[in-house]
Amino acid sequence: MSEAKKKDTFSDSLGFILAAIAAAVGLSNIWRFSAEAAQNGGGIYVLCYLICIVLVGYPLVLAELALGRSKQKGVYECYQNQGSWEWVGLAGITICFLIFCFYNVVAGWVLGYLWNLLTGRLFVSTEKEHFVEFYSAIRSNWQGNLIWTFIMMVSAIFINQAGVSGGIEQCAKILMPIFIVMMVGLIGYSITLEGAGRGLYFYLWPSLSNFSLQGFAFALSQSFMSLSIGMGALVTYGSFVNKKDNLYFSSFAIVAGDTLVAVLAGFFLFAFLGHEQVDFDAMHDGDNALIGPGLAFITLPLIFSKLGYFVGPILAGSFFLLLIFAAITSSISLLAAPAKYMESKYKMGNKKALWILGLGSFAISIVCILSDSDIESLFSVMPHPEYNFHDFFMDFVIRILTPLATFFFSLFIAMKWKMSSLFKEAEQGGKLNKRLIPYIEVTIRYITPLFVGISFLTSLWQLTYDLCG
Ligand code: PHE
Repeated sequence: MSEAKKKDTFSDSLGFILAAIAAAVGLSNIWRFSAEAAQNGGGIYVLCYLICIVLVGYPLVLAELALGRSKQKGVYECYQNQGSWEWVGLAGITICFLIFCFYNVVAGWVLGYLWNLLTGRLFVSTEKEHFVEFYSAIRSNWQGNLIWTFIMMVSAIFINQAGVSGGIEQCAKILMPIFIVMMVGLIGYSITLEGAGRGLYFYLWPSLSNFSLQGFAFALSQSFMSLSIGMGALVTYGSFVNKKDNLYFSSFAIVAGDTLVAVLAGFFLFAFLGHEQVDFDAMHDGDNALIGPGLAFITLPLIFSKLGYFVGPILAGSFFLLLIFAAITSSISLLAAPAKYMESKYKMGNKKALWILGLGSFAISIVCILSDSDIESLFSVMPHPEYNFHDFFMDFVIRILTPLATFFFSLFIAMKWKMSSLFKEAEQGGKLNKRLIPYIEVTIRYITPLFVGISFLTSLWQLTYDLCG
């Protein structure tokens, strides 16, 4: 008789932690965190972010992993027979899928930058104008973006097809060490530059002058995006974890690893900005090169271009590779969670689920790509000319849908699954100091819904304002 098929899981605790950190560390750690910090008061934003991580991030990561491991199956089974709560699971994996759609497009721009760097078209000038035009050319090049996005999407499918230990874990084990070396190199170089200290001061000193409730709301939704909370991705990864693993420690390692990467990426970004003598107080003035993606795609390449023919391209190459590595390991998990869900719900094979989702996502990516392009007027449904569908879609998913899903996830844990089930599951592989139990209970029951509620309303107001602006 043939041996029963062994479940494909992570090979050991370390493999799991590494893969989970790799999944969590994504594009948003490298540029979004710093871009938001730059626009929302630097150090005060970083402080808010750290508070959110401790009061909301860690407990929820633990809850997601425990829920996934309790059933040893994906999101579908975790919410099965839970009455109307089932849609909380569905909402989570829908968000994963939606992020996958626009995420690949942004990662595609990075491939575009890398390609142009290699073919010598990125560094033909050291003028700001060139980099502003270059960024807009990359975004509006819809033919190129279709190809790059497709490559990202197909890579995520193939790696997923190779399995949990052979694909997802293996990929993390190869890419993460290179990632760390490049990051350390960028930090080491940048902090020795003249003016770096000024950038770091702005980044780390919590000055209240630029603080607003909106900054807090952004920090919270950024922490969800960065830690991949509320989307079922961690529930799915949790289902591949051994019952003997210490979930308290794994959750800590994931949260700490992800936060460390975001904070460290800020070190080199702000050091470079300080060197360029960027006026941090004027960051709100709407200069596209200094806000949002402009920081990573215009200002940083501009700074690199001024650092010489040899050093500039090496720094730029490391930076864009860093982004690509971060993107691919995240993209894998963004696809894995909904694919597992489809496999269970519709009883279909892994390959079929991956391809249906991959191609479906590509259809939505096409709309994003076209809305970025010159022929955008054909597809634009947005009332505000400066705010295209792609940008709106990203903001809507990250700032509105994700907090909403997280809100209901915390209610699900507290009211339906119950805190006792969480602790029962987690205690199988580790022991929590008794004094920390109230911390987990209070944060999930009260602090998360409160924080998320405030953040959701603030973001909703802001988004409506931006849209109709
Ligand atoms: N955490 C990833 C990032 O920071 C995005 C992501 C969300 C990845 C959900 C997986 C699941 O970019």
